[in-house]
Amino acid sequence: MANMAPRHFLTLLDFTPSELAQLTTRAIELKSMHHQGQVFEPLKNKVLGMIFEKSSTRTRVSFEAGIAQLGGAGIFLSSKDTQLGRGEPIEDSARVLSRMCDIIMIRTFGHDIVENFAANSRVPVINALTDDYHPCQLIADMQTFQEHRGSIQGKTVVWVGDGNNMCHSYINAARQFDFKLVVNCPAGFDPMPQLMAANKDRVTIVRDSKEAAKGAHMLVTDVWASMGQEEEQKEREKVFKDYQVNPALMDLAEPDAIFMHCLPAHRGEEISHDMMDDPRAVVWDEAENRLHAQKALMEFLLKQTHS
Ligand code: CP
Ligand code: NVA
Repeated sequence: MANMAPRHFLTLLDFTPSELAQLTTRAIELKSMHHQGQVFEPLKNKVLGMIFEKSSTRTRVSFEAGIAQLGGAGIFLSSKDTQLGRGEPIEDSARVLSRMCDIIMIRTFGHDIVENFAANSRVPVINALTDDYHPCQLIADMQTFQEHRGSIQGKTVVWVGDGNNMCHSYINAARQFDFKLVVNCPAGFDPMPQLMAANKDRVTIVRDSKEAAKGAHMLVTDVWASMGQEEEQKEREKVFKDYQVNPALMDLAEPDAIFMHCLPAHRGEEISHDMMDDPRAVVWDEAENRLHAQKALMEFLLKQTHS
């Protein structure tokens, strides 16, 4: 029997603002249930396929632990050990895996790869990071802000560093969660122009970090060279040397400003050696929240499929 077209989560724009708000609220609830030791297994017998074409610590463990805690099972599929790495077309892989798994997450390079996979999948597909977007991180980040400071609506977030996949997802988040975003990046490393143009009512670029930090309720940064850009590392170290989040920069923000980083972090580059230990940093909660946010996401997507 042909299924209805499944819902996917490839960018934050695949969900409505109210669905996203529902997810962060649910993530907070699931976190509290988990911390109380409550067993909650609504996804018993469900199987999550986990395709990784790039490295991961947090994403892999949070998805695998998350599906196990919900009663299901995860299958880790590295492109190195599957036929994907030997050139089996993405369309064929999607058709086959989606006949065996109930939900699939992919971490890969081009965003077109997850779009192509989703277009050929019978089951929900989750983008677990592409060169262009990292939406799962944003559910966790929005949950973390909500837990520490309440609603992010109307607040100002400052993105320091590269206009990369994380920055793009912050631009989408600014739209979907209704906050202002200041992108503090060096010239030549701006976010995608079409994304900037579509969000010019709430996203601005400010080149000077000290200027950008003023009035911020949150500062967030990421590595200077992302996965796949390893050969640019040395060159980028020169270009980005003034784009570091440190306690002195945080001092220029609002007194209750917090700091986030998706991790892994490079101390001495995008953050100072002492930034992760600063009381304004909420990075460990942020990392933990990947688990709870993605449990809420999987529960949501599988409920949609079977309702
Ligand atoms: N933040 C994040 O996605 O971390 P990993 O690369 O370890 O999955
Ligand atoms: N921008 C980084 C994020 C890692 C979670 C990368 O793509 O490598």
